[in-house]
Amino acid sequence: MSADAPGLHTRPAATVRPYRPDDRAAVLAIGADTAFFGAPVEAFHDDRRLFCDLLYRYYVEQEHDAAWVAEGDGEVVGFVVGAVDTRAMRARWLWRVLPGVAGRMLTGRYRLGRKTWRFLWREAVGALRGESPRVDLARYPAHLHVNVAEGWRGHGLGRSLLEAYIEGLRERGAVGVHLRTTDRNAAACHLYEKMGFRLLDERPTVEWAGLVQGPVRNRAYGLRL
Ligand SMILES: CC(C)(COP(=O)(O)OP(=O)(O)OC[C@H]1O[C@@H](n2cnc3c(N)ncnc32)[C@H](O)[C@@H]1OP(=O)(O)O)[C@@H](O)C(=O)NCCC(=O)NCCS
Repeated sequence: MSADAPGLHTRPAATVRPYRPDDRAAVLAIGADTAFFGAPVEAFHDDRRLFCDLLYRYYVEQEHDAAWVAEGDGEVVGFVVGAVDTRAMRARWLWRVLPGVAGRMLTGRYRLGRKTWRFLWREAVGALRGESPRVDLARYPAHLHVNVAEGWRGHGLGRSLLEAYIEGLRERGAVGVHLRTTDRNAAACHLYEKMGFRLLDERPTVEWAGLVQGPVRNRAYGLRL
């Protein structure tokens, strides 16, 4: 699909189109505003810049040609970002993103309060406890993150973004794609299952204890292309 095909996957009042570099701020804002089960990241982070740098900087700087946005009323209202080859992405993230984040941390460029330290600690504990669902990267090498701004959800934009992204992956020759979510992201799980994604693995996590009521299960979904 050509990177400048406008108007593709149109829904009333909104259009899905390829990502452009000037979408960066809007994409990061939506990423931060939806990070806590669809609500703002400030529930578990003191500084959204750190969250965005850790999670999204790679996609908007290193692999933005794979990304798509939904535009409504002249604004970016949703996005899908991802990597075609997760193993290669991890290596690039380590060398091209992490050093900058570490440098900004050490030079006091982020607000590092109780929430952030608690989050980083929980992440480390979760990794040690094996809370991250397993994915066979030979079968599902690509991955994605999709988010739609509150107020624009439930109008088919999530599906249109995923369709555009998946089509792009097929054109790049990817054999499968996966994503990680939780059983609490009910709309997301419903959408993935409806689009043919298979639940690959599911594990209980304590990462959100004290922040949400009741148990949470991490999930990985995969789709063969
Ligand atoms: C998940 C998300 C990207 C989907 O985008 P969207 O534009 O709302 O998606 P769509 O409108 O294409 O489809 C949503 C589907 O979920 C359904 N849905 C909505 N709320 C739901 C809920 N609470 N429980 C179950 N299904 C729900 C909708 O009815 C629709 O299914 P249908 O087509 O069978 O009616 C968006 O809801 C979102 O950003 N959520 C918050 C952040 C998030 O969870 N991101 C994903 C992280 S893995």
